[in-house]
Amino acid sequence: MRKGWSGRVSFTAVVALAFVACTPPTAESDAPSFTLPDTVTFAEHIAPLVWANCMPCHRPGHAGPFALITYTDVAKRSRMVRDVTRRGYMPPWPADTTYARYLGERRLDARQIALLAKWVDQGLLPGDTAALPAPPVPPAYAGLGEPDLQVWLPDTFHQPGDNRDHFIIAKAPYELPRDTFVRAIAFVPGNRRTVHHMNGAFVAYADGARRDVHAGAQYIDAERTQGVAAFSALQLANDDGSYPALVPSAVNYLPGMEVTAYPEGLGGYYFKRKGAFLMNTLHYGPYPRDTVDRSHFAVWFAERPPERPLQELQLGTNGLSPVDPPLHLEPGEVRTFRTQYTLPRAISVLTVNPHMHLLGRSFLAYAVVPAGDTIPLVRINQWNFRWQYAYTFRKLLPLPKGTVVHVYGTFDNTANNPDQPYKPPRAITGTDSHFMRTTDEMFQFFLSYVDWKEGDEKVELGGVNGRSGE
Ligand code: HEC
Repeated sequence: MRKGWSGRVSFTAVVALAFVACTPPTAESDAPSFTLPDTVTFAEHIAPLVWANCMPCHRPGHAGPFALITYTDVAKRSRMVRDVTRRGYMPPWPADTTYARYLGERRLDARQIALLAKWVDQGLLPGDTAALPAPPVPPAYAGLGEPDLQVWLPDTFHQPGDNRDHFIIAKAPYELPRDTFVRAIAFVPGNRRTVHHMNGAFVAYADGARRDVHAGAQYIDAERTQGVAAFSALQLANDDGSYPALVPSAVNYLPGMEVTAYPEGLGGYYFKRKGAFLMNTLHYGPYPRDTVDRSHFAVWFAERPPERPLQELQLGTNGLSPVDPPLHLEPGEVRTFRTQYTLPRAISVLTVNPHMHLLGRSFLAYAVVPAGDTIPLVRINQWNFRWQYAYTFRKLLPLPKGTVVHVYGTFDNTANNPDQPYKPPRAITGTDSHFMRTTDEMFQFFLSYVDWKEGDEKVELGGVNGRSGE
C-alpha cells in the first residue's frame, strides 16, 4: 500500500525468523572497587534489588516458577538465589553490558551479586520489614493506557503435560471498520507460566484481496509442518493464491519484555481493514501438567500515519549477506562463522537481535564506520537458546552510508554443549527451508532501523518495551 510498507518485506524473510530463545550472563567484571555495608538486611538492601530485578517475572501469574517479593519468599530460596545470581543464570540477560548498553537492562553488577551473597552468609537478617513500602506494581502496558483493539487467538491451545517445549505456528485474524494507523502492539500471554516466547508478524490484505480472513487452520505444530505447508494450512494467501504484504517482527514477546512503544514520531504501522497476526513461532516452555493457553494481541491506534516507519535488516541465514563459510558443523566441532554487510545508505538503529539455535556458544556484532571507528552492537559471551532478547539501544544509533556491519557467531557441536540435541553429536547443516527445527542451525542478525536524520544521535528511546529504561 503506502511507501515503506510493501516491498521491504518478503514472505520468506519472515518465515526465517523462526523462534527466538535465550542466555545467562556471567558476572560482570566491573569489580573490584565496591564496598558492602557491614550489615545487609532484607528491608534496606535486598528488597529494592529483588523488586527491581526479579519480581517483574517472579510474581504470581508471571513467568517465574515462584514469587520473589516478600522476605519469606526470598529467604525460603536464599541459597538458590545466591547460586543463580553468582552463576549469572538469573536474571536472564545474555548481552554483555560491558560491551554495549541497552534500555531496561536486567543484569546484576558485581556489587549486587556480592550483596545478595553477604545477606545469605549473614543469616538472612530481615531488618525493619514493617517499614517497607508496598512493592511497586509495574504499570500495565507500559503506561500506554487501555488498548483500542484486542485480537484473540481463535481457539484455546491445549498443552500436554509432557515437560517438553512446544513450538506452534498460529494466526489471529481481524477485521476493522476501516484502514487505520497503529502506534503500538503488545502480545499478552494467557498463560504466562508456559508461554515462553513469541515472534509475531502481521499480514495486511489489499482491498478486495481476501474475502474470509477467518478460514484456515488455527494452530500448527511447527515441529511437523513448516514453511509453505504451514502457510497454506493457515490459509494466509489472497483469494487468488498470491501472498499479501507482510510486516515482520511487528510484535515479539519474551517474559519480562512485553510491549514495544517507541517515542512519538518513531515506528508505527499501517493496518489494513482485513489482516491477521502471524505467530511464527509461539514457543511454550516445558510444563509437567496438562494446561491451556489463550493469548491475545493488544493494539493502540494512532491519529496520524507513521512518520518514520521501522525497517529491518536481516543478515546471515536467509538474509542480505551470506554466512561465511556456509554453515556446517562436523560432530565434535567448535567453529566460528561470520557475515558482513555494507550499508548502502545512512540509517539509525533502534534494536539488534542475534539469533542462533541450540549449538550457539557466543555472538559478536559491531559496526566499522567509514571514518574507521568501531561501534559495539552486541556481545553474548555465553549463548542461551532460551533467552533471545532483542536489545534496544538507549538512544538512536546513527550509522553512516558505507558502514560495515561485522557479525561473528561461534557454534559448539561437541558433547560438552549442554544444549546438544544429539548423543553422540551429528553433522549439522545450516537451514534455509526447515526453519524452526531446533536441530538445524541458523546464524542470523536483525537490526531494526529508521532512515537517518540529522540529530538522531540525540533521540532517546526510553519507555520502549514496557520497561522504564534507566
Ligand atoms: C525475565 C524474567 C525473569 C527475571 C527478571 C528473573 N527470573 Fe528467575 N526465572 C525465570 C524463569 C522463566 C525461570 C524458570 C527457569 C527458566 O526458564 O530458565 C526462573 C527460575 C529461577 C530460579 C530457579 C532456578 C532453578 O534452577 O530451578 C531461581 C532461583 C530464580 N529464577 C531466581 C531469580 C532471581 C534471584 C532473580 C533476580 C535477581 C530472577 N530470578 C530474575 C524468569 C526470570
